[in-house]
Amino acid sequence: MTPEKAQLRINELRSLLQQHNYLYYVESKPSISDFEYDLLIKELQTLESTFSQFDDINSPSRRVGSDLNREFESFSHRYPMLSLGNSYNREELIEFDQRVQKAIGEDFSYFCELKYDGVAVTLSYQNGKLTRALTRGDGTRGDDVTHNIRTIRSIPLQLQGDKIPAEFEIRGEVIFPTEGFKRLNSDRELKGEPSFANPRNAASGTLKMQNSSLVAKRPLDCLFYYIPGEQQLFETQDESLKAARSWGFKVPDYNLLAGSLKEVFSFIDHWETARDKLPFDIDGVVIKVDSIQLQQQLGFTAKTPRWAISYKFRAERATSRLLSIDFQVGRTGAVTPVANLEPVQLAGTTVKRASLHNADQIALLDIRLGDHVYVEKGGEIIPKIVGVQKELREPDSTVFHFISTCPECGTGLIREEDEAAHYCPNISGCPPQIKGRIEHFISRKAMDINAAEATIDLLFREGLVKDASDLYKLDANQIKDLERFGEKSAQKLIKSIESSRDTPFPRVLYALGIRYVGETVARKLAEAKLSMERLMEADQDSLEQVDEIGEAIALSLRSYFGEEGNLQLVERLRSAGLQMEMGQSEAMVSNSLSGKSFVISGVFVQNSREELKNIIEQHGGKYSASISARTDYILAGENMGPSKYQKAQKLGIPIITEEQFLVMLAQ
Ligand code: IVH
Repeated sequence: MTPEKAQLRINELRSLLQQHNYLYYVESKPSISDFEYDLLIKELQTLESTFSQFDDINSPSRRVGSDLNREFESFSHRYPMLSLGNSYNREELIEFDQRVQKAIGEDFSYFCELKYDGVAVTLSYQNGKLTRALTRGDGTRGDDVTHNIRTIRSIPLQLQGDKIPAEFEIRGEVIFPTEGFKRLNSDRELKGEPSFANPRNAASGTLKMQNSSLVAKRPLDCLFYYIPGEQQLFETQDESLKAARSWGFKVPDYNLLAGSLKEVFSFIDHWETARDKLPFDIDGVVIKVDSIQLQQQLGFTAKTPRWAISYKFRAERATSRLLSIDFQVGRTGAVTPVANLEPVQLAGTTVKRASLHNADQIALLDIRLGDHVYVEKGGEIIPKIVGVQKELREPDSTVFHFISTCPECGTGLIREEDEAAHYCPNISGCPPQIKGRIEHFISRKAMDINAAEATIDLLFREGLVKDASDLYKLDANQIKDLERFGEKSAQKLIKSIESSRDTPFPRVLYALGIRYVGETVARKLAEAKLSMERLMEADQDSLEQVDEIGEAIALSLRSYFGEEGNLQLVERLRSAGLQMEMGQSEAMVSNSLSGKSFVISGVFVQNSREELKNIIEQHGGKYSASISARTDYILAGENMGPSKYQKAQKLGIPIITEEQFLVMLAQ
């Protein structure tokens, strides 16, 4: 490249990047992916290093490092940010109290506080000035969110008052007050943006925004509760919080100095109901030994202080009336009861349906139609019925009996010994089971055929598809005249079915929907047995020899391949040209990712998500669908899901691009 051409391209890249920076940092509306952005930066850096005569201190390439890499800089915590031991009932608190007494005797008080439900931060002050704010991160390192913390009006940037230590840290919880949260969500709904599930998520999402001027527009608040450090600045927790309040920190005044466990219990009882009237969410209370000297005597375990414990409130509850019970039949034939309720507000959403699990649960709770019931929302999406207000029961109510025949096909239900669920045994004739199996067969992680549930329903109703193998007999002419189809959509469906023939064997095995044979088990089995043939011949013992395969899975496989109908289906799929053995490409390629666990999110440029997943597994890595503390990397493409992003940030998991991943592989 000539210097003239290089200069032109350098200028072009600089103005392009400046434009993208503006869109990303100022408008919060990025128009290109991180990957594309990185490519542009790299191109610019390469040109700049070759043609150093065009160097410019204001070049966008010079700012890559901290503020432009779209992640926050992280720093080590001076004092690790530990969590608290949890307790859920009085017995556990009594045990805690006994442990404490054993270590320090009986002469002490507890300081009870509310457990604010938000995002923990630790703020450093030097000579009365805020110098840095970090999130909890992984407890030892946290993200620098100082610029966003500075926008929270109630956080003092300059302290006032007496006896302010020259240098100290203070911990608090950034919260999204309830009223502001409701307003934020209704504004977002109006704009067609997804709402936040709860104030905690809204607080953490806001704190992680790149543009502080947008953070400043949201009504975040911060409530303080702890001053860590080895030097004993105060005699008691009570005194430390009073001092913090006098310096300008917001320290809620709902605390109680308790001389006995009895007083602790009444504090808990009070706030369990009074929490509804607070202007912010709490998820429990925290009980701390008040004396700081005794706190130091008790010390810490690796994860938690021995001088404090949290008492978690039960999941939020509401009451409603049971109107009716529906029964849903799944692809395995399992019958699940679902309650229809009078609509009720619970933890920010309207609840109309709730899970009832199975017949035992109904019998145990003695649930009857018309009953006033308690509904709880735990971590799950579907709320559950946890109890009945028997005192409000109508005198003429009758015991509810679980159904004895399938609501879909009328066949008598069976219930295996040791099994909680009722099953419809009409495997080959019960419509939801047939459709459910086909839907599973075509699903993204299985054969990845692009057809909606409604299409399968239609093809089944028209008698064109009675099992998965029928899909491979379809031609476009048969479907183009069906309801909602046309020439183009018919061709598209056929093409998607055609290309599914190349799906690797482990996924074909998974697609069969054999009980307990999920994605990972299917892969393990395929790698160990190499072909459908050998898998079908394998006896119980040899199956149990396979890594991660236990008795139940082996039995399930034996029983699946013991059915004539299943053998015939496999044969029809084989004739349709599906992969019935391990190909070269599925074999292990290297061990370079061994022990590393990845979560994939977003859309990618060079490989599809499925391909990336295969690459991870072929190199000995582990793919997982959801982020947990055990995740090592997030492989992120364009439009990474915001909740995944937040979670990754929260857990301090590195987010890598496709390119970085490929480099990692090569190493
Ligand atoms: S004390 C070393 N007090 O709960 C002990 N924590 O599950 C430091 N939290 O990470 C914690 N309200 O984010 C303490 N009044 C309170 C709290 C509180 C909320 C949070 C905090 C902590 C988590 C532990």
